[in-house]
Amino acid sequence: MTVHFIGAGPGAPDLLTLRGRDLIAASPVCLYAGSLVPAALLEHCPPGARIVNTAPLSLDQIVAEIAEAHAEGHDIARLHSGDLSIWSAMGEQLRRLRALDIPFTVTPGVPAFAAAAAALEAELTLPGLTQSVVLTRTPGRASAMPPAEDLAAFAATGSTLAIHLSIHNLAQVVAAVAPAYGSDCPAAIVWRASWPEQRIVRATLATIVEAAADGPDRTALILVGRVLAAADFDESSLYAPGYDRRFRPQDSTSRFAEDSA
Ligand SMILES: C[S@@+](CC[C@H](N)C(=O)[O-])C[C@H]1O[C@@H](n2cnc3c(N)ncnc32)[C@H](O)[C@@H]1O
Repeated sequence: MTVHFIGAGPGAPDLLTLRGRDLIAASPVCLYAGSLVPAALLEHCPPGARIVNTAPLSLDQIVAEIAEAHAEGHDIARLHSGDLSIWSAMGEQLRRLRALDIPFTVTPGVPAFAAAAAALEAELTLPGLTQSVVLTRTPGRASAMPPAEDLAAFAATGSTLAIHLSIHNLAQVVAAVAPAYGSDCPAAIVWRASWPEQRIVRATLATIVEAAADGPDRTALILVGRVLAAADFDESSLYAPGYDRRFRPQDSTSRFAEDSA
C-alpha cells in the first residue's frame, strides 16, 4: 500500500501529468484538497473509489483516513493543487507518514505561477533584466512570515515577483514593492489561471489597485517585474550564431567538436 502525493495542476483538467492520471486511476482511495482541485480530475478515479474532500478535515483526521486505507491495503491518490513543493501542506503529512512507516511517492504538478505566466505569454527570466523569480506570499491568518522574508527585501533584488495568497492584500503589496521597482513598473494579476473563468489584469504598480478593484479576492497570482512588458532585453547566448556549445560546435577546433561527432 502506498500514498501517492500528486500535484493536480493549476485547474485545467488536462494540465495533470500522465503519471498523476495513471496513479489516480490505479488507486481505490482518493483524498483531494478542496476547491482548487477540479472535479474533472476525480473522473480518473476507478469505479467505486472512496473519494474524500479533505478541506473540512484536520491533519489528524486526514492521517486517520490514510491509516485506515493503509490497514485495508488500499493505495491512495492524495491530490493537492498546483505543485506539491509550494504551499501544499505536504511536508507535515510526510512527517506523519514517516513516523507511521507508511510508504509514499511524490509526483510533481504544474504550479499556478507557471500557468499564470503562460496566460500572460510571459517568460519571467529575460536576459539583461532578471534571471530570478521569487515565489512568495504575504502573511496570512494561519501563517506568519519569517522576518527576513518581507516583500520590500525581495523587491530590492529587482527579480520577478510571483506573489501568492495575497490578492486581498493588494494595496499593501504595492506599497511594499513600489519604492524599489518604481510606480511605472509593470504588474499583472491572473485569477484562476487555466480555469474557464480565468481573468487577467495588466497594469503598472501605480494603476493596478484600481484596475483590479472589481476582481475576486481569492485564487489569484500577483506578478511584478520589468519582464512583464519588456520588448528591450538581450537575446540569450545559447542561440547566438557564434556561441560555441556542445550541441552546435563552431568548427573543428571547438572543444565540443569531438563530443558531437
Ligand atoms: C495554497 S496555495 C497553493 C499553491 C500551489 N501548490 C501551486 O503550486 O501553485 C494557493 C494560492 O496559489 C495561487 N493559485 C493557485 N491556483 C491558482 C490559479 N489557478 N490561478 C492563480 N493563482 C492560483 C493563489 O495565490 C492561491 O491563493
